[in-house]
Amino acid sequence: MKKYTPSVVIVGSGAAGLRAAIHLYENDFTDILVVWDRKFDDAHTTQARGGINAAAATLDKEDTPLIHAVDTFREGQFLANPDLVEQLTESATSAIDDLLGWWAQFHKEEDGKTYTQRFFGAHSYRRTFFSGDQTWKEMIRVMSARARELEIPFLEDTYVNELLKTEDGEKVAGVLAVNKDNQQIHIHAPIVIFACWGFANTYFRSSSRNKENFWDLMGVAYRAGAMVGDIEMVQFHPTGLLYPEEKFGELVTEAVRGEWGKLINAQGERFMKKYDPDKWELSTRDVVARANFSEIHNGRGTERGGVWLDISHKPRNYILRRLPKMHSMILKYNNVDIANDPVEVSPTTHYTMWGIWFDSETYETTLENFYVAGECTMWVHGANRLGGNSLMETMIFGKNVAQRLLDEVLPGLEKTDTTTSTVEGITCEGTLDPHQLLIDIRKNVWEYSGIVRTETELLELTDILSGYRSKIETEGIACCGNLYENTMMHNRIKAVLDFAELICKWALERKESRGAHFRSDYPDMDRAYDKNYLHQMIDGKVVSTWRDVPKPSAKLQEWLDTFEEPNNYGHSE
Ligand code: FUM
Repeated sequence: MKKYTPSVVIVGSGAAGLRAAIHLYENDFTDILVVWDRKFDDAHTTQARGGINAAAATLDKEDTPLIHAVDTFREGQFLANPDLVEQLTESATSAIDDLLGWWAQFHKEEDGKTYTQRFFGAHSYRRTFFSGDQTWKEMIRVMSARARELEIPFLEDTYVNELLKTEDGEKVAGVLAVNKDNQQIHIHAPIVIFACWGFANTYFRSSSRNKENFWDLMGVAYRAGAMVGDIEMVQFHPTGLLYPEEKFGELVTEAVRGEWGKLINAQGERFMKKYDPDKWELSTRDVVARANFSEIHNGRGTERGGVWLDISHKPRNYILRRLPKMHSMILKYNNVDIANDPVEVSPTTHYTMWGIWFDSETYETTLENFYVAGECTMWVHGANRLGGNSLMETMIFGKNVAQRLLDEVLPGLEKTDTTTSTVEGITCEGTLDPHQLLIDIRKNVWEYSGIVRTETELLELTDILSGYRSKIETEGIACCGNLYENTMMHNRIKAVLDFAELICKWALERKESRGAHFRSDYPDMDRAYDKNYLHQMIDGKVVSTWRDVPKPSAKLQEWLDTFEEPNNYGHSE
């Protein structure tokens, strides 16, 4: 067993975690430890490819942070917290300046000076900064370089599996983890920040990498009493690879459509104009994902079950400069040169809009001394996230949480070293293969609670999941390796099962369609559901409440009432 006693432990070394750590360090608070399950610069941020948004108006001079807020709140279908939306959009330009200050290289116009901003879906103006089609890579490159320069301490290959509490059970007091050398790691820290991933890999077809994004860490927080919300809001990205099997669901970035890629069905029809006559392929992700789904399921898909995404009308050099990763990835895995031919795509699970609740002013969660930033949080994006907003979210809220701690929490912090753990311990004396179990559950979740939901299917999935629960109870789960592997697999199965059940339950209760949550039996949005649905485990029972979405500021409301989307896309055949 190894023990560490920092004042702040940050779980997650992606963009949100690094941003928080750098801000603390740059403000002379150095008693921190960053811990993550993978190597230092290999976080889940890798899946945010196409860009990062700020209303910097480098090309479209009319753009402002307020219009960015209007787009974000409207397209989130009125479920986002408007205060957080304004925080996001107002600070976005200064977050770009932070990245540039660490020598991030974003794409520039021919003049070599003006930063290029491209369209992403449903943004009124071009506001997405990018670095080819691997913007995450540039962000993580400069942030990890900065973190190394500051000598921020980091534990890699270390999987957190438990929140520690103070002996009276009142406050969070650290985390338990296990590393790849099978050592138990005890980190006793009065402040814990989770800056970690979401849930998308609970669906069999997803853009997540193999071993991440199972909600396991959010599950740890939830079981310890952290309130979560909007759990029915899972984002499906319209374009994932169809083959080969091991790349099933791999992200084909929205930037392909942002650079004027066309979606075409097997009958040669450019179909998006039917679904959104103004924005076509640059409609919101929920609309484009459902359009792709509907074309495929109504017999207008390709033989493999996809639609075509075509950017071959653009010059090869343009594609190689703006979409180099897509060009090489699709050539490698599909043997298709996108400068010559279209690629086959279909929807894939991409992002979790739901997550851990936090107060928009104090950044406190329902657990004392426990803070959150990044994808594991709820309500920055509402029912539908605009592409490019998540990378910006990591920058803004990683920093804001750190600033809040510096202002209000760390100055009076007492470092005590008395914690308790409620670790149940891993028993793996059963016969069920955990890997197969996880695959089977994920296939069912994808099949029955995906892009189009119905009461019948959600109830069917509820039964299937309870069948798995009984099977696990009677047959037990087998070991699958060492302590590290077993801990991770058991935690994942627990989280996937718990939260898939909760998605069914809560998707059943939201009897309307809104953003990513589409019920074909209730296809319209019902404004009576302008509410966040919140859930907290109290004494082993889930307590659920509907809460009205907070009201927008007067300024934002005025713009929401009056701003008309300019429809700048200029689509034509
Ligand atoms: O399609 C993409 O490049 C994804 C970006 C995002 O999720 O923000």
